[in-house]
Formats: sequence, C-alpha cells, structure tokens
Amino acid sequence: MLPRSLATVHSPHWRAELDTTVRTYGGREVQPPGGVWYRATAMLTRLHVKGFRLLRDVDIEFPSGVPLVLIGPNAAGKSTVLEVLDFLSSAVRDGLSEAVNRDRGGFDLIRSAGFREPLEIEVAFTVGADVPAPFGDSAFEYQAHIDGAIGGGYRLVHEHVVQMPFGNPASRDVLLQMASQGGRAFNVTTGQSDEIHQEAWVEPILRLVRHDTFYPYLSLVTRVLAGIRIYPGFYVLPQWARDARETIHGPRDAAVVGPTAGLDRRGFELVKVLYDLQTNHEPEWAELLAAFRAEYPTVKKIEFPADAGGGRIALAVRDERFGRLTAWQMSEGMVAFLSLLAATLTPTPPAAIAFDEPDAHFHPSLIKRLAWLLERAAERTTVVVATHSDRLLDHLSDPAASVKTVEAGPNGTVLRSLDPEALRAWRERYSLSDLRARGQIDAANTDAGKR
Ligand SMILES: Nc1ncnc2c1ncn2[C@@H]1O[C@H](COP(=O)(O)OP(=O)(O)OP(=O)(O)O)[C@@H](O)[C@H]1O
Ligand SMILES: [Mg+2]
Repeated sequence: MLPRSLATVHSPHWRAELDTTVRTYGGREVQPPGGVWYRATAMLTRLHVKGFRLLRDVDIEFPSGVPLVLIGPNAAGKSTVLEVLDFLSSAVRDGLSEAVNRDRGGFDLIRSAGFREPLEIEVAFTVGADVPAPFGDSAFEYQAHIDGAIGGGYRLVHEHVVQMPFGNPASRDVLLQMASQGGRAFNVTTGQSDEIHQEAWVEPILRLVRHDTFYPYLSLVTRVLAGIRIYPGFYVLPQWARDARETIHGPRDAAVVGPTAGLDRRGFELVKVLYDLQTNHEPEWAELLAAFRAEYPTVKKIEFPADAGGGRIALAVRDERFGRLTAWQMSEGMVAFLSLLAATLTPTPPAAIAFDEPDAHFHPSLIKRLAWLLERAAERTTVVVATHSDRLLDHLSDPAASVKTVEAGPNGTVLRSLDPEALRAWRERYSLSDLRARGQIDAANTDAGKR
C-alpha cells in the first residue's frame, strides 16, 4: 500500500484536491513534484478571441464568484462566446482537426469573414493553493493562433503556455513555445526544454506532450482546458415528439453503470451521472434531491430500477399521486431540471461551465432556482450563461458584476458591462427586466420604433 494523503482546499476563488501519493511509472516510484500531484479545480479568468466568427476582437474577464450572464439580440454572438470555449476544449481533448473539420466544416467557416490574419484564442486560468510552489498558487496562460492554409486547410502558427506564480508576479515561466520553425516543451525531469516535431503543424503540441511525469504542468493545462464543459441544450424531447429519423438514445434511456467524468453536453449520461452521485457523492446527492423536490413536491424520491433488458439501470421518480414515473413519462422541464442539477452540482467542477439558454423549458417560477443554481456553481468555478430570460436577470444577486450586453457592431461583436452607478440608481425604482424593456440595458430590447 502506497502512502496516501488527500485533502481538499476551499477558497472563494478555487477549490483544489491535493494528492501526495507516490506513484509508480514503469516500476519506478515517482515523488510528486513540489510535494503534491495537483488535482485542482482551476478557474478560467480571461478569454481573448480574435477572428472567430463574429468575434473579431473580444476580451472577457470572467467575474469571480458570480456567473457571467450574456444578453443581447439574436445573432449578436452570445452562443459564439460559448462556442469558442468549446472549440478550445475539444481541440485539446479530441484534436484540432476534429474541432475544425469534423465539428465545424473547415477553417474558412470559422474564421471571421474578411479576416486575413491568424485566428487567436488565448485563455488564462488560476490554480491557487496552499501547496508548495511551483504547482499551486499560479496562473497559467494558454495561447493558440491558427492560420488558413492553401486549399482551405489550416495550420497552427503559434502556441504558448506560460506559468505565472502568484507570489512572484514578475516571473513568467515559459512551459511551451511554438512558432513556425518548431516547438519546445519544458521537461521537469531534465529541467530543460525538449524539442517537439510535427510533420505539419496541425495539432496543438499540448496534445503531444501529455505525460504526468515529464510534463506535469503541461498535463495540468491539458486537463484543465479539455475539461471545460459547454451545455448547448439538453436533449429532452419525449419519444412522440421525435422524428422517425432520430435514432439516437437520450437522457431518458437506461444506461450501463460506470465511472463518469460528469454530465456530457447533451445530457445523454444523465442516468449514469445521477446514479454515481447517489452512490458516491452523498452531499451533492442530498442537495440535488432537495432542490428537485422543492420544485416537484409530490416527488418522494428518485429511483434507479433495473432495466428489463438486463445489465442496465433506468431512471424514475416515485410520485405520491401516481406511483412510479419512468424517465420516458417525465415532462421536458423535469428532464431539463434534473440535467441542470446534475451539471451544476457536480463534485468535480471543471474550470468553466457554460450554458446556452438554460431557461428553456422552465416555468417562470423555476427561474429563481435556476439563478440560484448558477450562482451556487459560480462559487466553485467560472460560469457562463447566454440567455433571453428577463426573469433570470431579475433574480441575479449582483447584476452589475454578472451581466454583459452583447451586440453585433460593424467590427464584430462588442461586449459591454452595465454601469454599476446608473444601475444602482435605476434599480431603486425598476427591476432589471423593467429597465431592459425600456431599452436602458439592451438597446435592441425595446419595441419602440419597430413596426
Ligand atoms: N465566419 C463567420 N464570420 C462572421 N460572422 C459569422 C461567421 N460564422 C457565423 N457568423 C455569424 O455570427 C453570428 C452570431 O451568432 P450566435 O449564434 O453567436 O448569436 P446569438 O447571440 O447566440 O443569437 P441567438 O440569440 O439567436 O442565439 C450570426 O449572425 C452568424 O451569422
Ligand atoms: Mg445563441
């Protein structure tokens, strides 16, 4: 049995799990660098985008402790902010070719129309902790610049990872560096940089150096970015509303029990994730159940009956009026709410979690709880929401910190914060939704002058 000690550190800005296990690699015992393997829940702090669809030049500082709530007219670029995070995450997780070609139909469709320079995506995140440097107490920066190539292709022209220890703000340790001539990655076992070669620069080097022992910091960056979760909308359609061509399974289907890394983007793993919470994460499960029952008081419990087909478990609730309701009998709002709970109450929050129009399917009375859940999640990680719901705005605890208006200008999408002073004065008389209807927050939200 290897010595093992685990601890969880909480702070308003981050949460970290420290693991000082001595691991073995190829039969050799390896001490954790700096005393710990860092299983941190990092938090995304900044995003810079240049040349991605309508986001021709956008910088976002994510608020800490409250969700970032994006509002604005249709086609303003709200979902595109979420898409950039998804693009980055899937480029690191699945591959750049998947993110560009398979998921988006090629580089020419992604790069801003008329844009000739490389597309730039840059993010920063923190993993602070009371742990020995150099792992904890740091901010990391990741930059990837992608240019078009002959024949509609693309190539990576710049990739950069920098670590900035909080204790020493002047220090910027370059962990990975790539320019057109080649790449270098910092190797902790040798204390030097390894040269990295690639036939054609079509994949992030970050994907090529995934090794916890040689490149622990870069592995951390990979894990953090790959773990970012975007929820574009849960698949909640009941069977009757589907088209015969839709043969996919959904969140309502029975599933094989197994380990899970959290709810997938469309909620297909809902049963598995809920079962895992019930079995392995008692506090989160209790909170989920309490929140669900507060909205559906006739539900006595959530059950996982064995599927008749064998080997799988299904999802059901026990309702005091009707007895057992299977997932296939639940309303869309019920499935959406369960999915939202599973996503926000995850025991291992990713560095950022984003929802596109999470208010869909919810009765106005449930929007208050939605706001609460988003704010609750924002205590632990960076939360981004795109919404058209006025009511959601009314329930935010700090709208000046949370809300940004998004508009499509002649030079692309522009994000603006609300003026806290003006907001305070206005809110003595009006709710946020009143103000919005008067065109004071979101100029496009008024009917005045429109026919
Ligand atoms: N390569 C591109 N160059 C420039 N603009 C693009 C490109 N690809 C897509 N767009 C535009 O980006 C805009 C933003 O769409 P997005 O889905 O982000 O809007 P939204 O604010 O989420 O709107 P909605 O409220 O309707 O969901 C669309 O008008 C789309 O035509
Ligand atoms: Mg949208």
